[in-house]
Amino acid sequence: MNTLKERINQLSKELNKHNYNYYVLNQPSITDFEFDKMLEELNKLENEYPQYKLADSPTQRVGSDITNKFETVEHEFQMLSLGNTYSEEDLNDFHNRVIKELETNPEYVCELKFDGASISVTYENGIFTRAVTRGDGSKGDNVTENIKTIQSIPLSIAENIISDKFEVRGEIIMPHSVFAELNTIREKNNDVPFANPRNATSGSIKMIDSREVAKRKLDCYFYYMMGKSLPTDTHFQSLSLLKDAGFKVSKHSKLCKNIDEVFNYIHYWDTERHNLAYDIDGIVIKVNSFKMQEILGYTAKTPKWAISYKFKAEQVITKLLSIDYQIGRTGAVTPVANLEPIQLAGTIVKRASLHNADQIALHDIRIGDMVYLEKGGEIIPKIVGVKIHEQDSSPTQFISNCPECGAKLIRIEGEAKHYCPNSNNCPPQIKGKIEHFISRKAMNIDSIGEETIAQLYDSGLINNAADLYILTKEMILPLERMAEKSADNIINSIEKSKSTAFESVLFALGIRFVGETVAKKIAYAFKNIENLAKANKDELMSVDEIGERIAESIIQYFNDTNNIKIIAALMNAGVNFEIQDEEEKNLSENLKDLKIIISGTFQRHSRDEIKDLIEKHGGKNVTSISKNTDFLLAGDNIGPSKLEKANKLGIKIISEEDFEQMI
Ligand code: IVH
Repeated sequence: MNTLKERINQLSKELNKHNYNYYVLNQPSITDFEFDKMLEELNKLENEYPQYKLADSPTQRVGSDITNKFETVEHEFQMLSLGNTYSEEDLNDFHNRVIKELETNPEYVCELKFDGASISVTYENGIFTRAVTRGDGSKGDNVTENIKTIQSIPLSIAENIISDKFEVRGEIIMPHSVFAELNTIREKNNDVPFANPRNATSGSIKMIDSREVAKRKLDCYFYYMMGKSLPTDTHFQSLSLLKDAGFKVSKHSKLCKNIDEVFNYIHYWDTERHNLAYDIDGIVIKVNSFKMQEILGYTAKTPKWAISYKFKAEQVITKLLSIDYQIGRTGAVTPVANLEPIQLAGTIVKRASLHNADQIALHDIRIGDMVYLEKGGEIIPKIVGVKIHEQDSSPTQFISNCPECGAKLIRIEGEAKHYCPNSNNCPPQIKGKIEHFISRKAMNIDSIGEETIAQLYDSGLINNAADLYILTKEMILPLERMAEKSADNIINSIEKSKSTAFESVLFALGIRFVGETVAKKIAYAFKNIENLAKANKDELMSVDEIGERIAESIIQYFNDTNNIKIIAALMNAGVNFEIQDEEEKNLSENLKDLKIIISGTFQRHSRDEIKDLIEKHGGKNVTSISKNTDFLLAGDNIGPSKLEKANKLGIKIISEEDFEQMI
């Protein structure tokens, strides 16, 4: 047995070393194939002999199916934030305050201010034991399992470098390339894309399933170390110690002898930041000497020995060449600015959204104007003002007719957007509706993309979603770039979609305001399409969460003879328009044998619905809490005694969102 134990030790050690070479040093030492083989062997051995698994085993990186609960835990040392400055003047004020207090000119360490999510990681006797989010600074979420999946964070460090217990603070980030890839996939799956890498990062580290976090390819830079007795005298030395211990520390941190060097650093990074592979939103300036830091001390929330210098959102001026009006699947009109191409925050910008008529009027934006363009934390740049109007120009007149079909636009009172009402004959609306119909959360016809829809529509083969079901292989083969195999796939996946669950079919119809959740509710309330089509407003509104706006929209949808024709054709083709018995009985086994107690009120479900969902997913809704309870599903205003009891018994507490993800 001893040899097996040795093999496990050896594999763990080697794999951890290769991970470090790859993720921290960027110098891979073996091929991916060799790595995977070793990891596979280790995984197998650990499963057979779990008693020999090491606390820093690299197999933890892949995540596990154990549900995270994110208990709230106290930070041993408060997680402070930083005071912000936005101008050189403010920074000079900070510097003068520091000199006055210290009666000398200090050295500063300048660092990049990473724009991600801060994390505090604890190591005990060299082993990664806990990772906690910032939270409110005093308490945060215990996200240990998720953070262990970040490959560049060491699971263990050599004890001779830093002994005892200590904490390291850093910023989890998502590099631009990973962010772009993630959003492409989300858009393809009809999921809302993340607005920026920061949001994507915080969303990722709060995911329930750590295997999913592992897929997000996050990274982490460390910039701060805390402990009862640290072996260095200066911050700069502590960074170098962290580096020696195996942590990823930014190579761009710089020791500055005086404030002029600090300003040089800021100027350099103000432009150079656009060449980084990740976002930064400023520079952090820290007094280097720990003794001096102690003299300067703290306010309640921030150290007086450090400050951040925030970069202004980059602004450029360019010419507005023309305005396009785009029509979405609901007929909503979005004005889009075509600009003289210009470099902004690392990308060339040619277009910017103008949102709606009010926005254009607010800034009095006219074609030919020189406009200010800004890119904040969001992906899409925005026009924030006009520098000079084009000579002899007159205010922009918002279009009155649809540029695609010519119909007269309407503007519903209280809404900012104009709409094209010609929903049945306006090409982008028709194509948009079919795109929605086939999307993943709707009919999930994944062999067809936007381009194929356009091809099918332009060649006159389809004019609505129901037409998809009369397509044959012979009809689509003549389309440009259509291979035999793709044609087969398309026909097969259309055929397969006929048995899609009723709730998804309802969602696929694209009734205004009927999203996924509402579709599910009405599917279960009315059981089939006939019942739904004849329901009156009161009956519709008696369903939980269906308000007047949704009820009216549903009635309007069924009053349109074109919609009725499409539904009839879909039914004829064999598309499923009723709840199936199995759907009613059991939705999944995701909560099989789990005992769940619920407490408080919820945002998106009534308590009855939650109980129903627990049962339908194989779980059991229990009413009194005991050590056999698996989860406390906590809503708003949860009773404090229940919470306390759950905490005492070590019962996992989950939120409504966690629950939704579980099912
Ligand atoms: S030092 C007591 N250094 O900025 C000092 N923070 O606004 C604590 N941040 O919560 C922070 N890069 O999430 C420090 N190089 C850096 C940083 C950094 C990003 C974040 C951190 C902190 C926030 C403060």
